[in-house]
Amino acid sequence: MTLPTVTLRPYLPADAEAVAEIFREAVMTLTGEDYSQTQQEAWAASADNEAAFGKQLEGYLTLIASIDGEPAGFASLKDGTHVEMLYVHPASANMGVGGALIDALEKLAGARGAKDLTVDASETALLFFEARGYEPQKRNTVIRNGEWLSNTTMKKTLGEAPPRKAHS
Ligand SMILES: CC(C)(COP(=O)(O)OP(=O)(O)OC[C@H]1O[C@@H](n2cnc3c(N)ncnc32)[C@H](O)[C@@H]1OP(=O)(O)O)[C@@H](O)C(=O)NCCC(=O)NCCS
Repeated sequence: MTLPTVTLRPYLPADAEAVAEIFREAVMTLTGEDYSQTQQEAWAASADNEAAFGKQLEGYLTLIASIDGEPAGFASLKDGTHVEMLYVHPASANMGVGGALIDALEKLAGARGAKDLTVDASETALLFFEARGYEPQKRNTVIRNGEWLSNTTMKKTLGEAPPRKAHS
């Protein structure tokens, strides 16, 4: 299979509608094996106010991944050391978009002096992060629009290149 070329660029205010759409579609389509529909709806509702959602992303170091010029995913780094968001449109899932975004955030964070990166990984993204050298630290339960969702804080020490683990 020939994989599409993924290009990366910084987030722009004009991307607000596109990222909100990617966020909602990713949550509603990709996380159904790990969260109930009620949990998915509560999670996805975080992007209902697109202007506020976009403003939030402007406050982070946010990258947009595009395929053929169309936004396909995005990732945000908070406080230089925490992966706050990583979402890929279902139409572009499993094509390396998420991997390209996380690689780029790791390089940017490392270049800015971060020694390690953390992420509160969803159940859906746990194996994705584990395959990239992130280690589970603790389990959390967080409230999103009235629903409790579980995730796992994971940490990766930058500057080391452990062998990539394959999913079993
Ligand atoms: C988690 C998520 C961001 C992953 O995005 P993605 O673009 O599908 O990720 P990738 O394509 O880079 O990698 C996923 C899998 O695709 C396949 N893949 C990726 N690149 C590939 C390539 N070059 N050739 C063949 N297969 C490939 C692999 O099976 C890969 O598994 P790996 O983790 O063992 O490498 C996406 O599933 C998502 O948005 N999930 C819902 C929201 C969510 O939970 N976000 C995380 C919040 S912390």
